[in-house]
Amino acid sequence: MSSRRRLSPSARPLVPRHIQSLEPYKAGKSIEELRRELGLEKIVKLASNENPLGASPQALRAIQEALPDVNRYPSPDFYDLRLALARRYDVKIENVFAAHGSEGIIAVIMGTFPLDDEEALTSANSFISFRIQAQSRGIKISEAPLKDYRLDLTAIADRIHEKTKVIYLANPNNPTGTIFTVSEFREFMKRVPERVLVILDEAYFEFAHHDPVFPDSMQYRLDNVITLRTFSKAYGLAGIRIGYGFAAEPLIGNLMKVKLTFEPSHLAQAAGVAAMNDREFLEKTLRLNRLGLHFYYELFDRLGIHYLKSHANFVTIILDSEGTVTKLYDRLLRRGVIVRPLRAFGLPNCIRVSTGLEAENEHFAKALEQVI
Ligand SMILES: Cc1ncc(COP(=O)(O)O)c(C=O)c1O
Repeated sequence: MSSRRRLSPSARPLVPRHIQSLEPYKAGKSIEELRRELGLEKIVKLASNENPLGASPQALRAIQEALPDVNRYPSPDFYDLRLALARRYDVKIENVFAAHGSEGIIAVIMGTFPLDDEEALTSANSFISFRIQAQSRGIKISEAPLKDYRLDLTAIADRIHEKTKVIYLANPNNPTGTIFTVSEFREFMKRVPERVLVILDEAYFEFAHHDPVFPDSMQYRLDNVITLRTFSKAYGLAGIRIGYGFAAEPLIGNLMKVKLTFEPSHLAQAAGVAAMNDREFLEKTLRLNRLGLHFYYELFDRLGIHYLKSHANFVTIILDSEGTVTKLYDRLLRRGVIVRPLRAFGLPNCIRVSTGLEAENEHFAKALEQVI
């Protein structure tokens, strides 16, 4: 007879409780999912802030050229990509990091910091992945509420205490598309102790930096600040997974120790180097986005829908209740339009719509006019 050890009910669970209670990130509904569910022909996805033009053609060519080498492990220090980024941003190679998307960099940072009972601090109603990653490591997280749908840096600074180790700020913020300003950031940094790491997530930098009040974090090279950027949005490489970051040498050196040896992948490294030089694609993307934002503003003004002016590639609309959001979302789905309800972001009465191609924006406008 086998004498299997019986666990008493009070025994520790196999999977830690903070993981069991974790709510996973739910990505926006995919085109294939909706096609399966409703069998629609024409579907427009405006739910995930992707680049509607596709990927940078130069990056696609570089991926093709790099394909024959996928039997080899990639360069673990991704020298070519670091060099290209260092030259472009006038920093040393030792100041440059890259990983599996900017989300991948957040994962490396959260694997490097904090320890024991140290805590993370951020804003409510911001990029969900940071919260999930902190929680998955059992890190306590504190969130300051938004003020008028903008990050409230004063309220965030008020929450700093001796256990605070990492502060995460998305600028522009997802899902509100709003920014904090140079002067707000300067005042904030005066209140952040040097032992606290500030992550400035600038995933939508290219869409925002023309605004003179936008604080380009590369102008503030402080020892406790890391800038995160990505090729996913402006360069259309969300599917290949490549993000990058800049910080002081000792910090980057430690992140290099913690990252997975062979991230980013060979194809992602090649794509990143090529995308950076694709000015034409970037300009085309920014032009299309400007048109899209103005088209949406006019549409929402005409329909009397309250919205937030955006510094990114999406607009968030504010409705009267979660019930209205659910109805609108379902009715748009039936007309082949996928948008993003923001309950998971803590804004149950809001919907986020990414800018698309002109025809996609018009399809959305027509559907919205029919269902509103
Ligand atoms: C604020 C913010 N940061 C990071 C990301 C993730 O970017 P990446 O694809 O580089 O992981 C997103 C994606 O939506 C985002 O909105």
